[in-house]
Amino acid sequence: MAQTPPTRLTIRRPDDWHLHLRDGAMLQAVLPHTAAHFARAIIMPNLVPPVVTGAQAAAYRDRIMAVLPEGMTFTPLMTLYLTEDTDPEDVAAAHEAGIATAVKLYPAGATTNSASGVRDVTKVRPVLEKMGEIGMPLCIHGEVTDHDIDIFDRERVFIEKVLHPIRKKIPDLRVVLEHVTTQEAVDYVRDNPKNLAATITTHHLIINRNSILAGGIRPHFYCLPVAKRERHRIALVQAAVSGDRRFFLGTDSAPHTDAAKLQPCGCAGIFTAINTMSCLAEVFEAAGALKKLEHFASLNGPAYYRLPPNEETVTLVKGAPLDYPEIIETGDGPVTVFDPGFPLHWRVETA
Ligand code: NCD
Ligand code: ZN
Repeated sequence: MAQTPPTRLTIRRPDDWHLHLRDGAMLQAVLPHTAAHFARAIIMPNLVPPVVTGAQAAAYRDRIMAVLPEGMTFTPLMTLYLTEDTDPEDVAAAHEAGIATAVKLYPAGATTNSASGVRDVTKVRPVLEKMGEIGMPLCIHGEVTDHDIDIFDRERVFIEKVLHPIRKKIPDLRVVLEHVTTQEAVDYVRDNPKNLAATITTHHLIINRNSILAGGIRPHFYCLPVAKRERHRIALVQAAVSGDRRFFLGTDSAPHTDAAKLQPCGCAGIFTAINTMSCLAEVFEAAGALKKLEHFASLNGPAYYRLPPNEETVTLVKGAPLDYPEIIETGDGPVTVFDPGFPLHWRVETA
């Protein structure tokens, strides 16, 4: 007898292990969308100027909490932006005090606001050694920045030339390879179970490079790392729906105003905070793996970060196609919401 597909799914409240909240008016506009669904998020430090010290992270956390709407609960897990001048003792103290959960390594020039990032990894070795000692995770934007490396190869080359050597030199360092986009990254994480995990974004489970470039250029699908071929997208979906503990959700929701995206040299970043859970439910359902959504969005992340999973639950309900805004207004200007290209039937039930 054919089973009726489920129309309700209750899971532990999810967390977002890679999120850009920005600051000021943009922070105020986007924060409620994340807090509506997620209990916690790893907050990226690529502000201008970047969040480098423990004191700066504490001040940023206060600015986030100050604009959290009344009645909402949300815990920002702060990160420190690694520079070649970062002081290992400041990092350790911020971790010990519960101010900083992780450190973020941006290769200089790899992405939005990464100019103060790392040029020479040997310069940050004392920080990384200290982090290995105290068990503090390092979140890595895994792309080389060499102009002679094709942009579609930058993640693969980073793994070989930078990530693998770092992990060999500092085996105790707990690494999160962020927003993986390639089969090679998935394979590398699967084959190297010690002190390594990866986040996968919502959009990389849905778009491939054709979405950006075929039949016209679509700046709202441009993000970094750039989406790759379809076979890579399929590898990401397989990793996400497998339930494998080393893969978990990091939306990389990265709001930019339309004015910043729609210009001759537009910004990288896709804003997915509003419809991520609906998108994920569609992806997991299509893969016949709705039961694994909780692992990906709510269980695997806390396990790797050595935090308890959330006690509360959320219920996803399947029904008529969901209405959600194409654009949200912010004090800085309109921001376009991610369009998955198919209707979304799952919504997060609100009490
Ligand atoms: C992010 C941003 O806009 O801050 N952009 C993006 O395309 N993902 C930076 C990043 O995570 O690379
Ligand atoms: Zn990001």
